[in-house]
Amino acid sequence: MKKRTLLAATFALMAIASQSNAAEDTAFDAEERYQATCFACHGTGAAHSPEVGDQIEWEIRMEKGMDTLVQNTISGLNGIMPPRGLCADCSDEQLRAIVEFMVQSSL
Ligand code: HEC
Repeated sequence: MKKRTLLAATFALMAIASQSNAAEDTAFDAEERYQATCFACHGTGAAHSPEVGDQIEWEIRMEKGMDTLVQNTISGLNGIMPPRGLCADCSDEQLRAIVEFMVQSSL
């Protein structure tokens, strides 16, 4: 009997856990998308990209203002930052959320 109660509790917990996962899946996860698309360059400094975590680099870039950084992300920069950072299905708002995540992780 005790074993069965434990089993029921385990299933209940599993149901709760999978429900919260489903909720997260529908919400846009800026960090996850950063890892999937931008990290290849911005996590490694490839092609001289500003590396996330490099405070001075991002302080200097932030002097242009968040709107300019987002605009340059959307249209690309100097032929080396690809338009939309190669995230073809990211909306402008989602790109902004990723840029905010990158800046917050660096400053
Ligand atoms: C192929 C490599 C590459 C990928 C992928 C990439 N970037 Fe970049 N990014 C760069 C490089 C290189 C620069 C620096 C460009 C320069 O200053 O001339 C840059 C610059 C930037 C800047 C600073 C813009 C400014 O005005 O100074 C932002 C913000 C940015 N990237 C966001 C992103 C986001 C968000 C993604 C993913 C959705 C992404 N990047 C994906 C290479 C990349």
